[in-house]
Order: sequence, then structure tokens, then C-alpha cells
Amino acid sequence: MSTTNEERNIYTTFDTILKREDKEKLLNQRSLVIWFTGLSGSGKTTLAQNLEKVLYKKGFLTQVLDGDNIRSGINNNLKFTEADRLENIRRIAEVSKLLINSGVITLNSFISPTKEIRDMAKGIIGKENFFEIYVNAPIEICEERDVKGLYEKARRGEIKNFTGIDSPFDAPIDCDLEIKTNVLSIKDSVELILEQILNRIERKVK
Ligand code: ADX
Repeated sequence: MSTTNEERNIYTTFDTILKREDKEKLLNQRSLVIWFTGLSGSGKTTLAQNLEKVLYKKGFLTQVLDGDNIRSGINNNLKFTEADRLENIRRIAEVSKLLINSGVITLNSFISPTKEIRDMAKGIIGKENFFEIYVNAPIEICEERDVKGLYEKARRGEIKNFTGIDSPFDAPIDCDLEIKTNVLSIKDSVELILEQILNRIERKVK
């Protein structure tokens, strides 16, 4: 099934394009993928958006990628089966890799419900470029918030394969940071993340 690039008449030019370091120098930052995983309604997108604003004020160039937006565009042919979720994250990880090589700090909020899915993303992006944050709120809280009204629909059986209801979410056990959004404020959560990532994204000029 898998063939080499040569067999497929594909000749990549990765070795002759400008390097990531050149782009990072231009932007005066180091790129990193900050990957938010958690249930729908746990606060992934809120944290990513708030973090992006703080980073922007500090002069960092970022790109937010999030489930609903990406699924309305490049991934609009994908649903919520296990296979489609895997393909969703595979494409996102490949896009993130391009952004990493452009020196851009990428803030990804995707449920990414299983260890297999998250490990695949980490494998594509490279573990040295990957900072995983588990945005943890109990499902009862997410359901109470029900910002998009989707839990209610899932409970009524109008949405199938809904994460946490009739589709699994495996809580990460080896993430870089866990944020309990039912305990911490948005401001404190963002500060906590910032504390952990600043030394990874600042460019130390000699
Ligand atoms: S993932 O599982 O493939 O990582 P992703 O983060 O892209 O999911 O998309 C999740 C978003 O899609 C949710 O925040 C929610 O708004 C919407 N959604 C629609 N149907 C489902 C479903 N069956 N399960 C989870 N989220 C769904």
C-alpha cells in the first residue's frame, strides 16, 4: 500500500527551502504547537483565544486552529466516526507542521479524544515541538455550560457519536499541563500556560 516518493514520481525540495531558523529569526521567536485537548465545552477555544491575545501584545505571531472552524473549511468532508476524527487530526497536524516550519506559534483546540489520536499528532509534529494541555472540566460542568446546545441534542439522540456521551474521551495522563477550568479563572489559566511556555517561544539572541 505505501510506496516511496520516487515510485510515485514525487521529488520533494525540503532540503533547498529556507529553514525554520531563518523564519524564526525574522519573527524573533521560536515556534511551538500548543495543543489543547478536552471535552466539548471544557474551554479549549476560550483559552486559546485569550492566550493568543496576550501573546500578540507581547509581540508573538500566532495562529489559532480550532475544531469548528477547521471542520467548516479544509475538513468539511469529515464527520465524527473514529476514522474521521483520526483523519481530522492528521490533517491538522500536517498543517501545524507547516506553520512550525514558518516560525509561527500554533494554538490548536481539538477534542482529540484518544491517546492514539494525540500520539499521532505528536508524532507528525515532533515531540520537541508539541506542548499538550489537558483542558479539564467534568462532563457535568460542560453539559451545564452547553454553550452550543449540543449536549442537549446528544442526550435527545439527535447527535450520534457525541464525545463523552456515546463516544469515548480518554483523559490524558502524560500531558505537559492540566488546567481545571471549573477551578481556575480564564486569566489565571492563561498566566499559568504563559509561565510554562515563555522559555520555549522566546528567542535567545547571543
Ligand atoms: S475531534 O474529536 O475530531 O478532535 P473537533 O475538535 O474537530 O473533534 O470538533 C469538535 C467540535 O465539533 C465540538 O466542539 C462541537 O462543536 C462539534 N461537534 C459536532 N458533532 C460532534 C460530536 N459528535 N462529537 C463531538 N463534537 C461534535
